[in-house]
Amino acid sequence: MTARQIAIDGPAGAGKSTVAKLVAAHLNYLYIDTGAMYRAVALIALRKGIALSDAPALTLLAQELCIELQNDGAQYRVFCDREDISFAIRQAEVGNAASPISALPGVREALVRKQQLLGEQGCVVMDGRDIGTKVLPQAECKVFLTASPEERARRRTLELALKGQTIDEEQVRRDMEERDARDTTRAVSPLIQACDALLLNSDGLTIEQVVERILQMAGN
Ligand code: DC
Repeated sequence: MTARQIAIDGPAGAGKSTVAKLVAAHLNYLYIDTGAMYRAVALIALRKGIALSDAPALTLLAQELCIELQNDGAQYRVFCDREDISFAIRQAEVGNAASPISALPGVREALVRKQQLLGEQGCVVMDGRDIGTKVLPQAECKVFLTASPEERARRRTLELALKGQTIDEEQVRRDMEERDARDTTRAVSPLIQACDALLLNSDGLTIEQVVERILQMAGN
C-alpha cells in the first residue's frame, strides 16, 4: 500500500520542493511547502517593520495570518490573507529573514499546528526541516534529502536567476551556510534526520532518479 503521508526534510537547496512536487503530482497527493509558511511570516514582518527579534509580535503574526497553499495542476501558489505572495516570498531577503523567525518557539508552535491540520487529511507530501521528527512523526515514508554545499549553492543561484535575481554564487553559498548552521543548531526542532528516515544524497542523481527512489520507498 502506498504511504499516505510522505515527509521530505533536508537543508536548503537539496531539491526538496522540486522533488516533492513531482512525487505529489505522480500520486495525485497534496504538496505542502512548510518553508513557504515561515517565509510568509517573514515577508509580512518585513513589510510591517517588526523586528526579527520581537518574539511576541512574531508569534502573534504567525497565529493570526491566514496562509493558504493552493495546488492547481502544475501551478503551486501561496496566499496570505487572500494576497498571492508566491513570488514575493522567494526573494533572498525574505529567505534570510525566515531563518531567525523559524527559530522562535512561539512561531513554530503556531505553524506546526497549521501543518499538522493539513497533514491529518492524509495523501500529502510535505517538505521542510522537522516534518519527519515533529510535524508528522507517524508518516509512513520519511526521506532526508541532501546534496553537497557546492551543488546546493549552484542550484539555489540558478533558481534565483530564473526568478530574475542575479546574486553571486559565493554569496548564496555563504548565506546558505549561515542559515544551515542556524537551522541545525537552534534549540527548537533543529534540522535533523529522523532515525527512521532514508538518507538520500542527490549529488550525481537526476531529478527523475530521486523521484523514482522516493516513489519506491513510498510503496508505489
Ligand atoms: O525551505 P525554505 O528555504 O523555504 O525555508 C525557509 C526557512 O524556514 C529556512 O530557514 C528553514 C525554515 N524552515 C523550518 O525551520 N522548518 C520547516 N519545516 C520549513 C522551513
